[in-house]
Amino acid sequence: MQAIVLVGGQGTRLRPLTYGTPKPMVPIMNVPFLARTLQRLYAAGIRDVILPAGYMPQAISDYFGDGSRLDMKITYVIEETPLGTAGALKNVQEHITGPFFVLNGDILTSLDLGAMAQAHRERGGIGMLHLIRVDDPSAFGCVVHDGSGSISAFVEKPEGVPPSHEINAGTYLLEPEVLDAIPAGRNVSIERETFPDLIAHGEKLYGYTTSDYWIDLGLPEHYLAAHRDILRGVMPMGIEPGLSGAGASSLQNHPCVVRPVHADAGVEVDPTATVGPNVVLGAHTRIGPGAVVRDSVLWDRVAVERDAEIEESIVASGASIGAGARIGRRSVIGHDVVIDPGSQLEPDSRVGRSAPIGIH
Ligand code: GTP
Repeated sequence: MQAIVLVGGQGTRLRPLTYGTPKPMVPIMNVPFLARTLQRLYAAGIRDVILPAGYMPQAISDYFGDGSRLDMKITYVIEETPLGTAGALKNVQEHITGPFFVLNGDILTSLDLGAMAQAHRERGGIGMLHLIRVDDPSAFGCVVHDGSGSISAFVEKPEGVPPSHEINAGTYLLEPEVLDAIPAGRNVSIERETFPDLIAHGEKLYGYTTSDYWIDLGLPEHYLAAHRDILRGVMPMGIEPGLSGAGASSLQNHPCVVRPVHADAGVEVDPTATVGPNVVLGAHTRIGPGAVVRDSVLWDRVAVERDAEIEESIVASGASIGAGARIGRRSVIGHDVVIDPGSQLEPDSRVGRSAPIGIH
């Protein structure tokens, strides 16, 4: 079976992180998220992957190449202008040879793709959509289906009493005929156009509802929540509980490391610094004397100087936080940003470049 992973979005909600790193390459536990997605596909027996890209595609192709390092075949199809979630599929139609998975490139889930493929084979229909039950569907596209799973309606961001509590979870298994229903050469949304059109024409789309872990990484608060869940073992990812990562041994006897903490190779944490709980440190990140880092994700080569404080925030590669600076909760600091000593950043601050690195 083949899989298409949608990786062409601009990731505006994750800016300024996505000015320097396209969303699929944003690290989860210090590894580009797309690598994790490809591992899941590999585990499900899928070796043939198509990546419709367009935003900073070279960052993706430089890392994965033709896929041979992963024992996979990766085909890149670059969009000159964004074609949307269905337009991107239409644009790769010539590469599709049978039923195929479609994965949004920003969904972290424990969904078993093999079990979903089996369910599709048993149920039939032109496609199957992974659905997740949520308490409040008002921010999502919710999906209405009957007892057999047959979908009758899609309702975007319902107001008032929602018609269902099940939402489109961004993983689909589709028959190739779906591609014939997508108009070519323009931006088309699969959620808003293609799926509603298919059911309006009497095609059978089935929901596949599971209670798996599921989170959309597209927002900073979700990105931090996902890390917390992985560190605490709520989202299974084969991470050792407590202290983990290639740099864990250097922190083993540190007096002020509050677990769970995940640290990559070459991290340096001063003995008088406090790190944790729920902290991820990228390779060669350095935490100075008296500094405090809690509930945060720091990418590689970040420098946190003496007595600086970071809480519930994300700091991208190469940034430095000056001595005594305080980063308010839920802040996002972009690549190579220098925060001056003594600065006080308000909660929810976003500090970064104003355009993608290398594009302006
Ligand atoms: P925001 O700008 O923050 O909404 O993020 P986004 O641009 O990634 O959009 P969204 O989260 O809605 O996209 C869902 C998935 O579809 C992501 O994996 C995107 O990379 C992908 N995607 C969105 N639009 C396009 C597109 O025009 N072309 C391609 N190839 N992928 C897309």
